[in-house]
Amino acid sequence: MKTALILGTGWNSLINQVTVLKRESYQKLFQVESTVPGHSGELIHARLNKKDLIIMSGRLHLYEGYTPDQVTQPIRYLKKLGVENLIITNAVGGLNPKLRVGDFVILKDIFTLLAPTPLVGPKFMDVSQVFNLQLIKAAKIQADKLKLRSSLGVYAYCHGPQFETPADKRALIAMGADVVGMSNVPETIMANYLGMKVLGLAFVTNLAFVKHSHQEVLAQSQKAGANMAKLLTAI
Ligand code: HPA
Repeated sequence: MKTALILGTGWNSLINQVTVLKRESYQKLFQVESTVPGHSGELIHARLNKKDLIIMSGRLHLYEGYTPDQVTQPIRYLKKLGVENLIITNAVGGLNPKLRVGDFVILKDIFTLLAPTPLVGPKFMDVSQVFNLQLIKAAKIQADKLKLRSSLGVYAYCHGPQFETPADKRALIAMGADVVGMSNVPETIMANYLGMKVLGLAFVTNLAFVKHSHQEVLAQSQKAGANMAKLLTAI
């Protein structure tokens, strides 16, 4: 069972703990550059605890000007490499008032209504459970064992690159979102379409209604690097 990981903003420290077998740049593979600080733009073939792992270090975002088709090109490539399990990680803003900076949120659902889909044509796919229940359960058990604060939650996509206004955030909360980010959804849709089992893990770098910046997002997620690596390894 081949597993791949997409490392979102600040989730990169796992790379220091794997044996790197091969690195390939997104530039070479997909003819695109990752333009975001904290996203290196490399596909890494690695081994961790005697298991093969493919790591996407950094991802492409719609706010960088890429199309939904370009953003999900790596997912189609992973499928060609035989990947069956995909772990998607993100930095997010916390909307649910129970969340604190530093919490892990194991995604149980996403809003697709705000994100452009990468699917074209009559691909009427069922999306009643986009995240795999077995993987959700495994992630929760491992987070609890490691004594990390974690909960299950719903991810809302906002296009960005500007963060959300207070009015945006109130609307997202009213619609039932727990966390908000600028990625994940096109990738999750494509991975489901390709029949992969998907796990979504989010790390809360800032809270709604508190001013924040990308530097703060990076700083908070870098502080938690060791815990992120532990959680991913355990899962
Ligand atoms: N909004 C959107 N994306 C984010 C945020 C946020 O508050 N924090 C980290 N990524």
